[in-house]
Amino acid sequence: MIAKLSVLATIVAMAMAAPTSTTATTTTAAPDAATSASNSAATPILQLSSFNGQFKNQYPPPDAIAPTDTPLVKQWLAELNLTGIPNLPVVPFTDNGDPKDPSAVPADACDWTVTNCINKDLTVCPKGAWGLTYDDGPTQYSPQLYDFLDTTQQKATLFYIGGNVIQYWQSALRACEAGHQLAVHTWSHHPSTSLTNEQFIAEVKYTELAIKEVCGVTTRYFRPPYGDVDNRIRGLLDAMGYINVIWDYDTDDWQMSPGGSRTEAQVDDEFAKWIAAAPNDTTGHIVLEHELYQTTVDAAIKNLPAVQKTWKTVPVAACMNDPHPYREQNVTLATMDGNYTTGITNGSKNTTSSTTSPSSTGKGNSSTSGNRTPITAAGMSGGAMATAGQRLGSFGLTTVLLGAVFAMVL
Ligand SMILES: *[C@@H]1O[C@H](CO)[C@@H](O)[C@H](O)[C@H]1NC(C)=O
Ligand SMILES: *[C@@H]1O[C@H](CO)[C@@H](O)[C@H](O)[C@H]1NC(C)=O
Ligand SMILES: *[C@@H]1O[C@H](CO)[C@@H](O)[C@H](O)[C@H]1NC(C)=O
Ligand SMILES: *[C@@H]1O[C@H](CO)[C@@H](O)[C@H](O)[C@H]1NC(C)=O
Ligand SMILES: *[C@@H]1O[C@H](CO)[C@@H](O)[C@H](O)[C@H]1NC(C)=O
Ligand SMILES: *[C@@H]1O[C@H](CO)[C@@H](O)[C@H](O)[C@H]1NC(C)=O
Ligand SMILES: *[C@@H]1O[C@H](CO)[C@@H](O)[C@H](O)[C@H]1NC(C)=O
Ligand SMILES: [Zn+2]
Repeated sequence: MIAKLSVLATIVAMAMAAPTSTTATTTTAAPDAATSASNSAATPILQLSSFNGQFKNQYPPPDAIAPTDTPLVKQWLAELNLTGIPNLPVVPFTDNGDPKDPSAVPADACDWTVTNCINKDLTVCPKGAWGLTYDDGPTQYSPQLYDFLDTTQQKATLFYIGGNVIQYWQSALRACEAGHQLAVHTWSHHPSTSLTNEQFIAEVKYTELAIKEVCGVTTRYFRPPYGDVDNRIRGLLDAMGYINVIWDYDTDDWQMSPGGSRTEAQVDDEFAKWIAAAPNDTTGHIVLEHELYQTTVDAAIKNLPAVQKTWKTVPVAACMNDPHPYREQNVTLATMDGNYTTGITNGSKNTTSSTTSPSSTGKGNSSTSGNRTPITAAGMSGGAMATAGQRLGSFGLTTVLLGAVFAMVL
């Protein structure tokens, strides 16, 4: 990944360029040598696919906004019902990154980066649980992180960048076979609200397709780059059958980029502070970490043991007791309550959990996204969210304004 400022500069440049001039090209899958080298000890617990690096579909170049004029994107757009999507403006980020001009964001947008407004987003796990998440992978540093997670049988939610899945597909395959929860973090890591509806759909669906080709499963969870989400983006996610995941604890570990401003000691202090405060917790947490640099992986490995002693550390779907983070109902991942274990259930449903099935069509609507209602309720129960002022969002759901905090994160 490129550093934050250059990413943002690129975004501005792209926002000024013709939006749909990019053409799809076949990306050659580069050998994931680092993974192969250190992967020998990993024993797959889920035999999901026999992917060998030969992608069947054509993918856009990495790091560029996904094109909207390819046959695949046209097909995806045709399959979706976008009738109810809020008509909110596309908001390019400014070249110094944050904030995007707050005056350009309508009050009813429920924009998280500008106002911390939450609307059906997952931000916390239930009390006692720690939703362990790593963003921006897979990368050349992933094998070290996954090796360490294997040593403690720890599973995490991995929010993947589609372009990286193509390049580091062996790490992606290893991660899903290990029982980590794979999820989508867009194709090219541009802020969601800076994309048109069509661009955003292309960014999510190309990433979903790449993961499907590698692992044989279809993702259902999403995290927006920079946490950048508003009600337009939420509507698009809903239409595609996705659950949106933000966080309540941010390590700001990405600022440890080479030459970055943050030290490992500062990240350690953050963890120490959260652990010290744990006795007074009213909710669990969802933490933002990255598998982006050597430094972020080092900090993740160093701090995980103390976190494991303080909370039940699980993937986000697990803390929500959702055994099906993928559309395929025959694949189950372990949940917190022990009703499900990781495995392939041969298509037979194991319905001891109250979690309902996702829309099988991908055309989620406020009804078919029904599994989000219990999930959100569980995530919010007794939550810090309830302490802030409430207002009605454009989806007609109760939403919460936590105050105007300009959070800029990778
Ligand atoms: C699309 O969704 C709208 C409401 O959001 C609904 O009224 C309409 O019937 C749907 N169209 C189709 C073809 O499902
Ligand atoms: C928990 O809250 C109480 C009351 O506000 C405070 O006295 C105590 O120091 C807090 N404990 C921790 C570990 O933060
Ligand atoms: C399993 O699910 C049931 C019903 O949701 C619940 O009562 C129970 O506590 C869960 N856990 C175990 C270990 O059975
Ligand atoms: C259903 O869940 C129970 C409890 O975890 C387990 O014993 C059983 O093997 C599962 N059945 C299938 C078909 O996965
Ligand atoms: C799947 O189901 C079929 C028949 O229902 C059975 O013969 C087979 O052993 C099952 N496989 C697994 C892995 O459970
Ligand atoms: C799981 O279900 C999908 C269809 O949803 C099917 O393609 C796949 O073969 C199934 N896998 C197993 C192991 O049964
Ligand atoms: C919306 O949800 C309802 C109720 O679950 C369902 O009958 C309908 O088919 C769904 N519409 C779409 C477009 O998925
Ligand atoms: Zn990111």
